[in-house]
Amino acid sequence: MGFFSEPMKKMFLKLVLLCLCLWRLDGVFSVAVKLVSVMEGDSVSLNSDLTEMKDDDVIQWRFGDENTVIAEINVTAYRITVYDDVLDGRFRDRLKLDNQTGSLIITNITTEHDGGYQLQINSAIKSFDLYVRRVISVAVKSVSVMEGDSVSLNSDLTEMKDDDVIQWRFGDENTVIAKINKWPDRITVYDDVLDGRFRDRLKLDNQTGSLTITNTTTEHTGDIKLLTSSEIRERFRLFVFGLVLVKEGDSVSLNTGLTEMKDDDVIQWRFGDEKTLIAEINKQTDRITVYDDVLDGRFRDRLKLNNQTGSLTITNTTTEHSGVYYLQINIVIKGFILFVIDEVKSVSVKEGDSVSLNSRLTEMKDDDVIEWRFGDENTVIAEINKPNDRITVYDDVLDGRFRDRLKLNNQTGSLTITNTTTEHDGDYKLLMSTARLSSKSFIVSVYDSVHCCGPTEAVIRLVLSALVGVATVIIVVYEIRSRRAE
Ligand SMILES: *[C@@H]1O[C@H](CO)[C@@H](O)[C@H](O)[C@H]1NC(C)=O
Ligand SMILES: *[C@@H]1O[C@H](CO)[C@@H](O)[C@H](O)[C@H]1NC(C)=O
Ligand SMILES: *[C@@H]1O[C@H](CO)[C@@H](O)[C@H](O)[C@H]1NC(C)=O
Ligand SMILES: *[C@@H]1O[C@H](CO)[C@@H](O)[C@H](O)[C@H]1NC(C)=O
Ligand SMILES: *[C@@H]1O[C@H](CO)[C@@H](O)[C@H](O)[C@H]1NC(C)=O
Ligand SMILES: *[C@@H]1O[C@H](CO)[C@@H](O)[C@H](O)[C@H]1NC(C)=O
Ligand SMILES: *[C@@H]1O[C@H](CO)[C@@H](O)[C@H](O)[C@H]1NC(C)=O
Ligand SMILES: *[C@@H]1O[C@H](CO)[C@@H](O)[C@H](O)[C@H]1NC(C)=O
Ligand SMILES: *[C@@H]1O[C@H](CO)[C@@H](O)[C@H](O)[C@H]1NC(C)=O
Repeated sequence: MGFFSEPMKKMFLKLVLLCLCLWRLDGVFSVAVKLVSVMEGDSVSLNSDLTEMKDDDVIQWRFGDENTVIAEINVTAYRITVYDDVLDGRFRDRLKLDNQTGSLIITNITTEHDGGYQLQINSAIKSFDLYVRRVISVAVKSVSVMEGDSVSLNSDLTEMKDDDVIQWRFGDENTVIAKINKWPDRITVYDDVLDGRFRDRLKLDNQTGSLTITNTTTEHTGDIKLLTSSEIRERFRLFVFGLVLVKEGDSVSLNTGLTEMKDDDVIQWRFGDEKTLIAEINKQTDRITVYDDVLDGRFRDRLKLNNQTGSLTITNTTTEHSGVYYLQINIVIKGFILFVIDEVKSVSVKEGDSVSLNSRLTEMKDDDVIEWRFGDENTVIAEINKPNDRITVYDDVLDGRFRDRLKLNNQTGSLTITNTTTEHDGDYKLLMSTARLSSKSFIVSVYDSVHCCGPTEAVIRLVLSALVGVATVIIVVYEIRSRRAE
């Protein structure tokens, strides 16, 4: 079937996975009827099994009890006709004929397409019985995470029955990303699909069928469905926000990921709970607009839009720019959470000692959420989530370097690292969602007794990475001096 394009091949794969592939004998016509089972919204190809058409072939596709002709190929006349206005237009814009094989492709299937299909090739007749599996309206569960984090999607199955086949499917195309067959006992993760965006990131619980996506990226934003053999059990709407951190006063760019815009692209940037429009590029009208008077002018003279990529730069940031940014590129929506770091502190600690990182909160309110993150990848090491009544220390991450070493104060959110080693050297960020979003950064350098009196590598790094600001320079100088004094 080399003449099929890649999407077509996928469609076939999907068909094979879904189709019951049973043939039954139909007494009346004495012809084999192929049963094909698909899900609402899917596409299906009804295969003619021809490899090519001959010059004298006339191919007709008919549907329903009345045998209404819906598509036809007259090979002699090189003519392909699709009658998609018949039957109240239920096939409108949904039919494609493969001009090599005469196979019929029906896209975006609804239950109105459920029924019998007949293929007539000259005088031979083939029949198909299309069974459209309904998408039962299960409530959509919204799940939002920040990129890099893991997310677990609960199957809500306590245990799988012996005959269960469960599938996890992603996106508008309902691509299968993971599957469990209880009999034979087999777990399959299709993490090469969709350009490998799920590669090495999927974990399936073989008891419950729950799916975990680790190290998420914004590419994992989309609808995820859990199907058992007979129905759709769960629907999740996963939204992965990009996490962006910037020091107050610096500039930050929120990237669209586009290298260039197409002629009819419309890009909009929105900010905050009210999703206030702050910038827009409309290629159709060739207009670039920055709405920097909105929201009490907090963006005034601070927004720059790149006219090639649509990326947004905010200059001279203040804590008022912390918040959620939405990017809409035509019909696709992405989100970023920007934290403006209002305080950068450097702290030195002698190996083996404890160091406390002060959140400066006196108490946490009922809807406060705070997170401690570490290192270049901003790995979550501790969190307090008041609305969910959750206090968690993730000390297994990063090869367990924090194991049994983290103490989180449940009143103030301050974090103490005990018995430090040089592995704890680095940048700790506190992300807070209290009355507003805010962030603090702590640059911790752990020195050993050998290096206690000179500017260690850590301190040099500290100087390089620290804020360009008088306060920090003073702190660094002070630290080096005080170490000398020791
Ligand atoms: C196919 O097209 C040829 C040439 O136009 C025509 O003679 C013939 O009747 C057509 N066959 C059918 C079944 O419409
Ligand atoms: C068959 O379809 C392909 C692509 O869809 C097209 O390039 C080709 O011209 C078509 N051939 C005929 C005979 O219509
Ligand atoms: C599929 O069909 C439904 C109506 O049956 C329509 O609302 C929806 O936009 C269609 N989806 C696509 C991708 O064409
Ligand atoms: C299921 O998971 C358990 C524990 O993780 C493991 O021992 C068992 O081999 C797994 N079974 C299959 C079929 O992978
Ligand atoms: C997470 O994914 C990014 C790419 O999106 C990769 O650079 C990074 O190494 C991954 N981190 C882990 C811990 O796998
Ligand atoms: C795009 O931006 C560049 C530099 O900012 C400017 O020179 C150019 O005129 C702009 N193009 C359009 C179409 O606005
Ligand atoms: C940055 O913003 C502050 C007010 O938030 C202002 O005082 C300062 O002049 C601005 N700096 C620059 C370089 O625009
Ligand atoms: C908070 O910590 C104190 C002492 O560490 C403990 O007694 C108390 O149970 C904790 N509260 C919660 C809600 O975990
Ligand atoms: C401190 O950590 C070291 C390993 O880094 C360990 O050998 C030692 O027992 C720990 N000390 C305490 C008091 O936990």
